[in-house]
Amino acid sequence: MRDAVEIVEAFKGQLAWTSEERVLDIGCGPGTVTAQVILPILPPDATIIGSDISESMIKFANDEYGGARLKFKQMDIVSKDIWDKWNEETFNKIFSFYCLHWIQDQQ
Ligand SMILES: C[S@@+](CC[C@H](N)C(=O)[O-])C[C@H]1O[C@@H](n2cnc3c(N)ncnc32)[C@H](O)[C@@H]1O
Repeated sequence: MRDAVEIVEAFKGQLAWTSEERVLDIGCGPGTVTAQVILPILPPDATIIGSDISESMIKFANDEYGGARLKFKQMDIVSKDIWDKWNEETFNKIFSFYCLHWIQDQQ
């Protein structure tokens, strides 16, 4: 949480925001950083999806933090068929905190 706050504070001023931004958070875990660190810096009309490989994390995150602007969906970032489930959704910004170092298949 502390590191995510530090990174977001350092870089938020360098991000160009447009209207109706669609934001993705990869490897959101319980959704706390998504809800309490990323969502508050977004423009008021922006929406964000937190994603994680773990169905139980996604259920917890939706129960705890889900709402009109913030939803959580299961995604394995390594999977070859990510977009079969996600209907080729598009995003303006993608965040990820403390997830990608877990991934063996970096490509
Ligand atoms: C250390 S947690 C970070 C959670 C959150 N981003 C934070 O900063 O508090 C790493 C998360 O990455 C997820 N993860 C690991 N491999 C993944 C994969 N292949 N696709 C999506 N998420 C993955 C784990 O389930 C875990 O919830």
